Amino acid sequence: MLEGKRIVVGITGSIAAHKGADLVSKLTQAGAKVDVVLTESGARFVTPVALQGLSGRPVYTDVFAATGDLAISHVELGRRADAVVIAPASAATMARLAHGLADNLLCLTVLATEAPVLLAPAMDALMFENAATQANLAILRERGMTIIGPAEGRLASGMRGRGRMVEPEAIVGALRRLLGRSGDLAGRKVVVSAGGTQEPIDPVRYVGNYSSGKMGYAIAEAARDRGARVVLVSAPVALSTPYGVEKVPVTTAEEMRDAVVAACAGADVLIMAAAVADYRPAERAGQKIKRTKEGMTLDLVPTPDILAEVKGDLVRVGFAAESEDLMRNASEKMARKGLDLIVANDITAAGSGFGTDTNQVTIIDKSGAAETLPLLSKYEVACRLLDRVVPLLKRSS
Ligand code: CTP
Repeated sequence: MLEGKRIVVGITGSIAAHKGADLVSKLTQAGAKVDVVLTESGARFVTPVALQGLSGRPVYTDVFAATGDLAISHVELGRRADAVVIAPASAATMARLAHGLADNLLCLTVLATEAPVLLAPAMDALMFENAATQANLAILRERGMTIIGPAEGRLASGMRGRGRMVEPEAIVGALRRLLGRSGDLAGRKVVVSAGGTQEPIDPVRYVGNYSSGKMGYAIAEAARDRGARVVLVSAPVALSTPYGVEKVPVTTAEEMRDAVVAACAGADVLIMAAAVADYRPAERAGQKIKRTKEGMTLDLVPTPDILAEVKGDLVRVGFAAESEDLMRNASEKMARKGLDLIVANDITAAGSGFGTDTNQVTIIDKSGAAETLPLLSKYEVACRLLDRVVPLLKRSS
């Protein structure tokens, strides 16, 4: 999504400037063309040389200096940008922006851009809470700029409070959401389930499965990047929630059913990537079950079939993780659950299935037509799947 995009990253004077440098590195690695604009105070914290090393492009500091591209006019950076991110954004820079001052290259660039602007403030908590800063933020927000953070935590003053710049990962997420806001899922609500449910045996044990949640989280991210409002119903996983995605944490299949059914109200799409336990222990022991010399039998009862229970006029997509007879099992599942699409994968194939970052799947539609995709990253699989979902959407959202 960031491949080839022109992103202006403004870095202002703050101890968080090194995180701005990390952001430059992350965006560059994601394929963006990053034009760094460093303010005079910013240059007290990170050097143009370091930033040029990270972006592989000229770094701009001075309106009047003929840096890098000699032909560049003073408004060129803003004019050609797909997005402008200021991270860290100091109180002084936000005050300048709120009042339309063009007294440095960064503020001039923001004045001269039609691209979306994202600000990640960083300052002392008292400065952030100050009425002047809050008034400036309100003006910038009202003019359509997106503000992310600041977060609570330890500040440069040694005090704790709200003023820390959010982490670069969150800024990348916010930027992707901003760039995708007019994507082909804009105005749509997409519900995604992810992870493996856990069915309690006693207070310390459960029946579970190896699902990592990576496929579902990649779908949530990809749908967000295309402008959707995403609700991610997630069983316990070790992944961080993608920025801008609404996560509903659940543990058991029954909790997942309740959360998915509730989330599907008004939804356009349901994608069930979760590995839902088909059975749960009939009883949950109140106390930890003790070891004895005897063997033991667990009584299991079926859990609800979530996909089968979700009614309504939405596009429904299931996954079929199979270890044998892939196509036959997947097609049979699709018919039984009345799905629009099913994503079949052979969990025994190399690079596919639980815990991996890649997946090799076949997407089957209602007519029985099967599209076999190559081995791709889970994010790319998610993109290809959404390419198939979009034409199935009803015209009005
Ligand atoms: N699924 C569901 N509710 C369940 C079990 C599964 O909604 N109780 C969904 C899964 O999220 C997946 C699809 O149904 O999208 C197929 O899941 P799978 O476990 O492969 O199918 P089952 O119906 O459980 O069939 P089997 O376990 O016999 O293969």
